[in-house]
Amino acid sequence: MSLFIRNARVVQSGGLPVLPRASVRVEGDRIVSLEPTGAGETGDIVIEADGRVLMPGFVDAHTHALWAGDRLDEFEMRQQGVAYLDILKAGGGILSTVRAVRAASESELTENLSRRLSVMLREGSTTIEVKSGYGFTTADELRMLRAIAAAARSFPGTIVPTALLGHALDPAQPRFVDTVVEETLPAVNREFPGIMIDAFCEKGAWSLADCRRLFTKARALGHPLRLHADQFNRLGALDLAMELGARSVDHLEASSPEDLRRLASSPVFGVMLPACGFHDGSRFANARAFLDAGGKLVLATNCNPGSAPTSSMPFIIALAVRKLGLRVREALAATTSTAAELLGLDGVGRIAPNLRADMVLLRHHDERLLGFEFGGNPVDRVICAGVEAGA
Ligand code: NIG
Repeated sequence: MSLFIRNARVVQSGGLPVLPRASVRVEGDRIVSLEPTGAGETGDIVIEADGRVLMPGFVDAHTHALWAGDRLDEFEMRQQGVAYLDILKAGGGILSTVRAVRAASESELTENLSRRLSVMLREGSTTIEVKSGYGFTTADELRMLRAIAAAARSFPGTIVPTALLGHALDPAQPRFVDTVVEETLPAVNREFPGIMIDAFCEKGAWSLADCRRLFTKARALGHPLRLHADQFNRLGALDLAMELGARSVDHLEASSPEDLRRLASSPVFGVMLPACGFHDGSRFANARAFLDAGGKLVLATNCNPGSAPTSSMPFIIALAVRKLGLRVREALAATTSTAAELLGLDGVGRIAPNLRADMVLLRHHDERLLGFEFGGNPVDRVICAGVEAGA
């Protein structure tokens, strides 16, 4: 039995043309064909799109969606002018989420994440990267990674885990960086071989030298690398990432146009996270300069309890067209096909035969409304691995 989505405006994404009226046939979890629109065959399950936009499910390639507790008191402090890095320096911020994560059981962590993933799915995200990074001991980082693996098993889409081993420094562990490099990384490598390794290179977090140490060893163990770079300060993280062949550098709010041009001529993806600028400080990365220089641009929610409390990819697109100088088509590629490429997933992020049937049907007849409207959920129906989610 096939699923037949008829009469859709099919936005295939990533350089592929828009098909103004077409139907998509799905068998099992795969897209099998794109056809001129017809009635479907006897026995088909038919979804009538009525000319509305059918597009690939979003690929949210940078999230910290697993956490416990909240930071609402700190948000009030920030509203009164206290800076994000000063809160961290005083033992709050990322460190307060570390305390809450350590106090939660593994099943509570799994439930927290599963609840957020189902909201993200309703907002159209069918592939989601999730980082650890609030454990700060070997046992707690492993607990986070196991909770991510457990939540992934009950999620109909694709979860890509990342071990964020260098997120901040633990004042209670004077040899913290040594422990992470000599104990936590090897333990993660044994249980999660080949998992992506990430770090936050920033004043008051991991220094350039700390990141180099962690990444050199991680790379030797066969882990791909990603780096939070130039969020507040330019410390040379871009050059380190390019030198060590990282998959991506993420944030880039403080990068200069010249930095972005150099990055654009490398194979490293640039991941921009405009929810941070919306939430705190109005600082945005220069996506226009990066794309114009030929860079591989990805946009993501950065969903987390501190700098970006959102799970909505449509909201990220609305921000990107207003604050990052992008056109909707560019933002769509950066939230689907290019994001899938960054995660090494060639079977998602586009609507094409043989790919996984992860698609969203919007309420809109014109995809430009994704950039124009904000604050609601433009997603009407979600097809994930060939099955309608929540049906
Ligand atoms: O990418 N800057 C580092 N990590 C996250 C924030 C995490 C948090 O504040 O809990 C980010 O913005």
